[in-house]
Amino acid sequence: MNVLVLNGPNLGRLGTREPAVYGTTTYSDLVTLCERAGEELGLSVEVRQTDHEGELLGWLHGAADAGTPVVLNAGAWTHTSVAVRDACAQLTAPLVEVHISNVHKREEFRHHSYISGVADGVVVGLGVRGYALALRWIAGRD
Ligand code: DQA
Repeated sequence: MNVLVLNGPNLGRLGTREPAVYGTTTYSDLVTLCERAGEELGLSVEVRQTDHEGELLGWLHGAADAGTPVVLNAGAWTHTSVAVRDACAQLTAPLVEVHISNVHKREEFRHHSYISGVADGVVVGLGVRGYALALRWIAGRD
């Protein structure tokens, strides 16, 4: 099974970006972690990151057309983008929303997610390991 792991703005800067909040794992480490988890689970995992909202929308449209499951960390767009939510609503395969930090422990503006209402599940605050847990659930190995 193909699975897309999609990351939104600023997540390419993991490792140097606010390490006290997001940890020291780099984006490239995150890609490796997801690919290894995929190998163990028998999934073909492709990891992408973009700072351009239209690009993410295009990837979500492609996943909707192909019936591909998605693990999505939409970063700040989680809290701002009706367009990303509307694209997620078109997905037919499972969608798991992931956040590295516990957004509910942080600023009020991070408490609301436009994505959660159209996601099958949400993994929040478990660090980058949350991605592997999301993949595990998609593989039916939880
Ligand atoms: C984040 C949380 C968001 O509030 C923030 O804008 C991010 C990362 C997380 O993974 O914890 O960019 O999605």
